[in-house]
Amino acid sequence: STHISDDLSEILVTEAQLVAKTAELARQIEADYEGRTPLLVGVLKGAVMVMADLARELRVHVEMDWMAVSSYGAGTKSSGVVRILKDLDSDLHGRDVLIVEDIIDSGLTLSWLRENLESRGAASVEICAMLRKPDAAKVEVDVRYVGFEIPNDFVVGYGLDFAERYRNLRDVAVLATHIYE
Ligand code: PRP
Ligand code: MN
Ligand code: MG
Repeated sequence: STHISDDLSEILVTEAQLVAKTAELARQIEADYEGRTPLLVGVLKGAVMVMADLARELRVHVEMDWMAVSSYGAGTKSSGVVRILKDLDSDLHGRDVLIVEDIIDSGLTLSWLRENLESRGAASVEICAMLRKPDAAKVEVDVRYVGFEIPNDFVVGYGLDFAERYRNLRDVAVLATHIYE
C-alpha cells in the first residue's frame, strides 16, 4: 500500500502532544539560556522535524547548525563506533551548544557526540531529545530536556525512519510487525 497509516499498529505520541511538549521545552530553554544565544546542533536526519518546530517556538535568538554522523556501520544495531559524515560549520569555542535529537535509543550516538563537542571548547553542551527509550539504554546520557519516555518498540514518524521512510509522518507511531518481519 502507498498509504502510511496502513503500516502502523498504534499511534504512540500525537501531533498535538508533540506541539504542546515543544512549547513546554521551549519555555524551559528560554529561561535557562537567558541572556545567551544558544547554538542548536541538529543531528541529521532524524532531528530535522524537532529542530524546525523547536527553533520556531523559541522567542529568543538562536543559531542553527547541523551534523551528520553514522553510528550503525553495516549492521542495524548501534555499535558505538561513530563516524562524522558532515561536520559543523561553526567554531564551538565559548559557545553554548544545545544538541537537538529526535530520539535516544542506546545512547551511544549522543554520549559520543557530547564528548566530541565538549572537546572543541564549548562553554556548555546540553541535550534536548523529544523521545527516549529507557529500556534500550546501553549507556546513561545526561539529557537536560526530554519530551517523552517511550517503550522499546519499533517507532517511526516525526523524523524517525525505517529504511528512510516514515519520517514525514506527523505523529510518532509503532510500525506494524508485518512491515519488518
Ligand atoms: C537514529 C536517531 C538517533 C540515533 C539514536 O539515527 O535519529 O540519532 O539513531 O540511536 P542511539 O541512541 O542508539 O545511538 P540514525 O543513526 O538512524 O540516523 P537518521 O537520524 O538519519 O535516521
Ligand atoms: Mn539520527
Ligand atoms: Mg535512522
